[in-house]
Amino acid sequence: MKGLWVIWSPDSSRGEEIGTRSNQESPEVKEYSENIRLGETLLEIDRSDRKEIGRTGEYVSAIGLGTWAIRDYSKCLEAYMYAIESGVDNIDTAEMYHNGKAEEFVGELVKRVGRQRVFITTKILPERLISREEVLKAARSSVKRLGVSAVDLMLIHWPNRSMSISQQVRNFESVYLKGLARYIGVSNFSLTELEEAVAAVRKADIVVNQVHYSIIHRDVEKDLLPYAVLKGITIQAYTPIERGAVKDLEVLKQLSYKYGKTPIQIALNYLISRPRVIAIPKAESKKHIEELLGSMGWRLSLSDLILLSRASS
Ligand SMILES: NC(=O)c1ccc[n+]([C@@H]2O[C@H](COP(=O)([O-])OP(=O)(O)OC[C@H]3O[C@@H](n4cnc5c(N)ncnc54)[C@H](OP(=O)(O)O)[C@@H]3O)[C@@H](O)[C@H]2O)c1
Repeated sequence: MKGLWVIWSPDSSRGEEIGTRSNQESPEVKEYSENIRLGETLLEIDRSDRKEIGRTGEYVSAIGLGTWAIRDYSKCLEAYMYAIESGVDNIDTAEMYHNGKAEEFVGELVKRVGRQRVFITTKILPERLISREEVLKAARSSVKRLGVSAVDLMLIHWPNRSMSISQQVRNFESVYLKGLARYIGVSNFSLTELEEAVAAVRKADIVVNQVHYSIIHRDVEKDLLPYAVLKGITIQAYTPIERGAVKDLEVLKQLSYKYGKTPIQIALNYLISRPRVIAIPKAESKKHIEELLGSMGWRLSLSDLILLSRASS
């Protein structure tokens, strides 16, 4: 429902920066108008299962897949090929995962399904950022393991605490300038660090911040998400089902009866209802993939989204 703005993060003072309330006549907005409090963040409900990467004009599925801690690579390959056939088109990996083996796995996946069907995100370790040469060396190794000429998106895995954000981001930008990554972004950056990163880049934009975000872990809603919406930066939500633990939440169990969806599907739907948010769970079986995919194609009602945000805060 374009133009519908709702209350989100009660702790934020940035709401008014994002936009003014519109569509006041919407029955859902009316129903909750008494809950509107000054300073609360107003965010649009995103009803699309295709999400833009930054302001690039490129869209990917609202559910992508991660590759951390894969146990059985051949079973996972089968499951991820099935996921791609079913409409998932973005895969997250990192040079750190299994010492490069996860990148090789994504390389194999891409070889099987075709390069154009996968938006590849990989992440570079912070210690590589000490110089442009080191960053480029690491990025070239990643790209080689992935078997591609360039990845779609390369991220700083987490900030290097021994150097300034601006210096590390400028060094990192060389992966874009040298054509090893079509886009660049960051991961585990706080709001202040993200702001510094956005200010530091010269030619490329910071299009993504990949952060821990789940129904249980919602800190991002306080300041990062409002800022991301304002600046057109995509939030990739990692550990979005808390390694399966969300399925035991009572409030999700209750809603699962109402919607005929599983608690995991409700938990993911909550995330992808946020503008700019893509969730990147990891799963190794076709059965798990099917459940994850079932979080798309529908939306929780506004009242239940608000219920969830309050129940889990
Ligand atoms: N940037 C960072 O610092 C960072 C940090 C952590 C993670 N990540 C990325 O985010 C991805 C996802 O995060 P995560 O792996 O930490 O956690 P997650 O996606 O919340 O949980 C993955 C676990 O949930 C299980 N699972 C998947 N579908 C399920 C289902 N339908 N029912 C029950 N259990 C299910 C998986 O089991 P099976 O494997 O047995 O299917 C796996 O053990 C990672 O793979 C990685 O790519 C990034």
